[in-house]
Amino acid sequence: MAKFYNEPSRTFSEYLLIPSLTTKECVHENVDLSAPLVKGKPDEKVLRLNIPFTSSIMQSVSDANMGIALARSGGMSFIFCSQGIESQAEMVRKVKKFKAGFVTSDTNLRPDQTLGDVVNATKLVGHSTIAITDDGTANGKLLGILTSRDYRVHKAGLDAPISKFMTPFSKLVYAKEGISLSEANELIWEKKLNCLPIIGDEQQLRYLVFRKDYDEHKENPNELVDAEKRLVVGAGINTRDYKERVPALVEAGADILCVDSSDGYSEWQGDAIRWIKSTYGADVKVGGGNVVEEDGFRYLVDAGADFVKVGVGPASICITREQKGIGRGQATSLIEVAKARNQYLEETGVYVPLCSDGGLVMDYHIVLALAMGADFVMQGRYFARFDESPGRKILIRGNYMKEYWGEGSERARNWQRYSEGGGTGLTFEEGVDAYVPYAGRLKDNLAVTLAKIKSTMCNCGSISIKQLHDTARLTLVSATSIREGGAHDVMLKESDVMTSEK
Ligand code: IMP
Repeated sequence: MAKFYNEPSRTFSEYLLIPSLTTKECVHENVDLSAPLVKGKPDEKVLRLNIPFTSSIMQSVSDANMGIALARSGGMSFIFCSQGIESQAEMVRKVKKFKAGFVTSDTNLRPDQTLGDVVNATKLVGHSTIAITDDGTANGKLLGILTSRDYRVHKAGLDAPISKFMTPFSKLVYAKEGISLSEANELIWEKKLNCLPIIGDEQQLRYLVFRKDYDEHKENPNELVDAEKRLVVGAGINTRDYKERVPALVEAGADILCVDSSDGYSEWQGDAIRWIKSTYGADVKVGGGNVVEEDGFRYLVDAGADFVKVGVGPASICITREQKGIGRGQATSLIEVAKARNQYLEETGVYVPLCSDGGLVMDYHIVLALAMGADFVMQGRYFARFDESPGRKILIRGNYMKEYWGEGSERARNWQRYSEGGGTGLTFEEGVDAYVPYAGRLKDNLAVTLAKIKSTMCNCGSISIKQLHDTARLTLVSATSIREGGAHDVMLKESDVMTSEK
């Protein structure tokens, strides 16, 4: 007979944390939000996140832009894999090559082009610094720089050649490739420049460093970098083309991989992880998932997974549960898998980090997930709202929205995520194509979310995630007390609606 789990599986909103003694050391500055990304013995030095945030392996969330922004804030993106191998590898390379403050020039012309070309180019980019190179490309031989202070179109006319107005190379202050950002900024201040070109041995343009960017780049104390000070980035893989995809991603410099699957408890996923470990040994790190209970966790860890991702069906754009009737309340999944992880630690002495993936709606859900045993979270909807996500920003009925679509939607057609082996193609959808309210810059939003997490941890008397794991106290809440949790029985000034009537 089928096995029944008689207790209902539960989700985050059904739990609250109970405050514990807040000692005087529990202040935001003392809270350490770093978390292990990969397995190891408790005292072993392993790859860690500076904040417990990763962004989802999704077309609408994790491209190179998001990878750069999130690593600069201390977390990490997994670049989406529902694209060609070479374009995914190129995104990984772009994150690894990123140098804070060193900008690849986006507006470049040749000296024989005209002020008319300048006017057109500046209209497109919205700034006025143009690099003048021999071939009009970002890495051509640098011949001069043109800014809006160098010419007056109404006097010179649109046909006048750029060469007449640009500051020629012989009069430019420039620096050679290899200079550090702080040295470049010293030069900018000393010579009163707005922009410093950085060139290679043959006078090829490499980057521009702008005065206005300096403060921005000083303010990233959490930046997640590797031993060579390059940003850390992950990449998703599937169980179909991993023998070609993994070598390309490793070559591109991906720091960690993750098998992207809606149901990770499968022999295909076991094979993929075993192949990676037998080909590369412990050097190439790979996470597995998604699972919702002990057997799936054990299966992936036995295959060699370096971390395990938890969650089937909780995500905002997910319709897997409706379409197929599989899944489990995310809080219960996490609690059960965390028990299995702790048991595994007792038996083997090896700690396997858990990632809670999907369904984190309120910021406090993140602390609940950590308290329930997650080491870090993966989010899609949260990041899709920001400037840095790939989706378009659209004005809908007076409100700015960003596009956010599931990997199982008709739009993404990531059938490899839903069909790990067997047939090919998407026969029915498991995700929707949607909008999320636009929320601005990642950095600004993250600062508020992190402040809330730290505040809750201090209320719980914890200044590290490990301490939260060991000492958190959680309670189930009744439906009535959930209502008590928001503002109620008052008339909100901005909406003029009694909140109890909602
Ligand atoms: P969210 O943070 O609640 O939006 O959930 C994001 C997570 O949803 C991702 O990390 C994936 O695990 C999962 N996901 C992505 N695309 C789909 C889909 O089309 N259907 C179901 N789940 C999806």
